[in-house]
Order: sequence, then C-alpha cells, then structure tokens
Amino acid sequence: MYAACFLLAWFLSCSSSRIPGDTSKGRHLLVERHHTSDYMTPAPVNRTYVSVYSALHDPEAGEVRVFSEVHPSNACMAAATCRLQGRGVDLSVAAKVDMPFGALLKTDTPEPLECFHTCQLPPGSEGVLLESVTVLGNTSQVVLSQRVERIEVLGVQKMSVGICSAPVFTDVPQYLDWLDHHRALGVEGIHIYAVIMDLSRVRDAFGRGRPGHKKRLTVQQSRRVKWHTRHMTDYDMPSHYYGQLMLLNECLFRHRQTYEYLLFMDRDEFLYFVDTAPTAVNLAWEFHSRLAGTNHTSLVFLSAVYRVHCLVAFVPDLAERPVHSGSDAEAELQEYGEPYQVYKGYSIWEADHRKPDFFNCTADPLGENAPIPGRGCHSKSVVRPLTVDFMATHSVFRPRPGYSWSPMAFPTDQAFIKHLRCLSDRHGWIADDSASLCERTLPVNYSVQAGNGDGVEVCPGDL
Ligand SMILES: *[C@@H]1O[C@H](CO)[C@@H](O)[C@H](O)[C@H]1NC(C)=O
Ligand SMILES: *[C@@H]1O[C@H](CO)[C@@H](O)[C@H](O)[C@H]1NC(C)=O
Ligand SMILES: *[C@@H]1O[C@H](CO)[C@@H](O)[C@H](O)[C@H]1NC(C)=O
Ligand SMILES: *[C@@H]1O[C@H](CO)[C@@H](O)[C@H](O)[C@H]1NC(C)=O
Ligand SMILES: *[C@@H]1O[C@H](CO)[C@@H](O)[C@H](O)[C@H]1NC(C)=O
Repeated sequence: MYAACFLLAWFLSCSSSRIPGDTSKGRHLLVERHHTSDYMTPAPVNRTYVSVYSALHDPEAGEVRVFSEVHPSNACMAAATCRLQGRGVDLSVAAKVDMPFGALLKTDTPEPLECFHTCQLPPGSEGVLLESVTVLGNTSQVVLSQRVERIEVLGVQKMSVGICSAPVFTDVPQYLDWLDHHRALGVEGIHIYAVIMDLSRVRDAFGRGRPGHKKRLTVQQSRRVKWHTRHMTDYDMPSHYYGQLMLLNECLFRHRQTYEYLLFMDRDEFLYFVDTAPTAVNLAWEFHSRLAGTNHTSLVFLSAVYRVHCLVAFVPDLAERPVHSGSDAEAELQEYGEPYQVYKGYSIWEADHRKPDFFNCTADPLGENAPIPGRGCHSKSVVRPLTVDFMATHSVFRPRPGYSWSPMAFPTDQAFIKHLRCLSDRHGWIADDSASLCERTLPVNYSVQAGNGDGVEVCPGDL
C-alpha cells in the first residue's frame, strides 16, 4: 500500500493520472511545478534530473550508500562503478543499484524516483576515512558524486530505541505530548526530517501546493530530537510525498549502528500499551523478548484513528523554549502564526479504556510478502535496523539475506498505535468542539480494506 495514495485519495484518484505527458513508453517526462496560484498547465521537462541527498559510510559494515532522487530511471541504472576517495584512499568498487519503489507507483505521474547506490568496501578497508564518492557509468561518465558522511557507530553500547519520522511540513498540536509520551516509554532519540518549502498555500487543480492548508511547521528544539532537512525542488509532486521513501531509508541507514530498534511513525501517532502507564513499559524488553532468536526483522503494530478536537492554546511556559518557525512565502493569518501550541480535547495521559475493533485485521501487505488473508489495516513497525535492506514507508520492504519477509504482529490486546487525528477542513483545524468525533460508517464491513484512508476508527461511545 502506497502511503501517498492515502493522502491524495480525497483529492486525486491514485489510479489515474490527469497530468498530460508522454505516455508512449514507461514513465512520463518529468513535470516542473510552478509556485504561482494562477498556474495550471504543467510543462513536461525533457532533461535528466539528479538530486543527491546524502552518501553515508557505515565503517562497521564497510558499506557506502548514496541516496538520491532522479529522473528518468536510467539516470540511476547507468551506474557501474563507485570511486571512493579519501585520505590516502582511492578505491574503485562495483556499484550496486536499487530502485525498489518503481513498481509501487502504479500511476505514471511524473516525479523524481528514489535511487540507491551501494558500494561495498573490500575486506580490510571497511573503516577507511572517505571524503567523496563518485558513481560512474560503464563508459566512465559521472552519474553522480557526493561528499561522504561517516555514520555514528556505537558498537555493543548501542542506544535501545529511536524513532524515524518523515516528512514533516506542518505543525501538529500533539507534538509536545508525543515527545513526552515516547520519552516516558524509553525512546532515546527522535529523528525528524523536515521539508523546507516556500509553497503557495493555494491548491491548484492537480492538488499541487499541498500541504498548505494546515498550520506551518514549528521546529521545537529538544535535546532528544535531531532535525534533518530536505529542501523542496521544482519537481516534487504531492504523490511523491516530499521524498518520504528516500528519507525513511536514509534514517534507517544513518542510525543502524546507533539503535537496537527503530520505530517508524508520524508525529501524531502514539505507541500505546494497553492499560499501562508509559513509564511502566520497558520498551526495549518488549521488543527484545519477542524478536531475539528469531529471523524476523520487525514487529508490526496495528493503528486506530482517534479523532480529536484540536483546540490550540497559548502555553506561557513554552515561551522558555527556543522556537524557530519555518519560513513560508505566504503571509499567515494571525491566529496561525502562534508558535506555542497544545491541543485541548483529548489527553493521552488519562485512562481511556476503549479498545479499537481490529477484527479480521492484517497489516498492509508489502514487499514480496504474499498477502495475508484478512482486512488490510493500517500499521506501523519497529525494526532491527541491521536486518533490513529497505523500508517502504512504515513497513519493511526488503529484509537483509537470512531474515524473514514476514513481520511479526504485536498482539493488539497488548499494544497498538493511537493515531490522534485533528478534525480539519481545507483551511485548518476545526475549532468547533461540538463537531462529531465519529466518522465511522456503520455497520463495519470486516471484509473491506480498512487500511485505506483512516482505517479502524474509535468513536466516543465505544467500550
Ligand atoms: C527531448 O530531448 C531530445 C534529445 O535532446 C530531443 O530530440 C527532443 O526533441 C526533446 N523533446 C522535447 C519535447 O523537448
Ligand atoms: C553500458 O551500459 C549500457 C546501458 O546502461 C549498455 O547498453 C551498454 O551495452 C554497456 N556497455 C558496455 C561496454 O558494457
Ligand atoms: C476477512 O477479510 C477477508 C479479506 O477481505 C474476507 O475475504 C473475509 O471474508 C473476512 N472475514 C470475515 C470473518 O469477515
Ligand atoms: C525463518 O524461520 C522460519 C521458522 O523458524 C523458517 O521457516 C524460515 O525458513 C526462516 N527464513 C529464513 C529466511 O531463514
Ligand atoms: C462488504 O463489502 C463487500 C465487498 O465490497 C461486499 O461484497 C459485501 O456485500 C459487503 N457486506 C455488507 C454486509 O455490506
């Protein structure tokens, strides 16, 4: 299931492209996005597009992986050799090319394609000091080049649990509670990828300009949070979801030697242990006791939507925290410019004994997993990073050799994800606290996919 389609479904059909372009063979030509609100017709672009995000060297595994977005696909596939240079080092090794997500995109929407090049250092030189990588084609033409960053290696002293969250581009009022809740659970580091953009807040007929209808991003500093940034390009399309697949895979690789476990989730999703205070949970043990000694890469948590009234309030003591608001081209209404926000209307800290109805739910089938019979329900994962080659948004897409394709389901009577979702319209959060918190259609049809859109809903009257 492709996450971006969930987000687009309410506006554009994911199965049909309305964007004109060259349909004769393979993907369309890339389309350049324009930022003006009167812009309507995209013009196909006829050139090679290569945008390199990072090149990371894992000195423990002796592996360099280059993360980029390209168009068309042969701009990635042409790679034959990696030239790795550094202090006293000049090595050429074979380049391994992966474009694992092409097949997930069922539309021909022209957009950058995620490209991954992997260069394996020869035995004995795993930890050499590298400065740059140049990926070359078979006639020595340069495919791309990038400065190399060495990832942090903590050896046996790894931290236990980290979170990867990408992309974020607007504010969510749940954020401060989200930090505190996961810190209380024992999460030791949170890695958030912010998309920096100066988009018009107006959406055009193709849905471009999203996601401008929510409050703009506020970067809250906290010593447990590490912010990474990605800048928008003129070729980002909403269905591409601002580089999400590349960013989450970057997070996986960058932190694979620092954490035993990485949780992939969004800033309004709370990992909830049934009837247990978060401080009473030993998170690392919950994961370790289930995964150790198995060949599973990950544990999967089913997710349920809890609609909440997101009534934003000024919190005086938050003024003590250094806050930086993301830049945005368009002037904000005064009420949206307020940097200090919490929500009223739901408390993650108070006991809530309602149980989501996960009857007949299975996690969204991904990668080469044979679909498991049942109703596909939305899910999130925690993974053992060294067992995973690629993530597809929040599930394992491809395990490393020797590990199983099938994830292990976490029993829903023990833990699941509470997705606290603000009621919103096109313009922002609905401030009306009498608005209904239930959008479930009754009776629930247990043979119909629940993963699409909002999935399993918890309503106020549920027991
Ligand atoms: C695209 O580029 C090719 C090669 O440079 C050229 O032959 C072709 O006419 C171009 N097409 C468009 C639509 O610009
Ligand atoms: C180089 O790669 C291209 C495809 O990228 C292929 O068509 C060509 O045959 C290759 N040439 C050599 C000498 O391997
Ligand atoms: C569970 O879901 C599957 C797949 O949609 C469906 O075929 C089956 O009938 C469902 N089972 C029940 C008990 O509703
Ligand atoms: C993983 O373990 C299961 C059961 O122990 C086994 O059937 C399966 O073949 C293993 N898979 C791999 C990739 O080793
Ligand atoms: C549930 O959905 C399936 C598939 O759309 C449909 O065939 C079936 O009639 C529905 N059942 C009920 C009780 O509405």
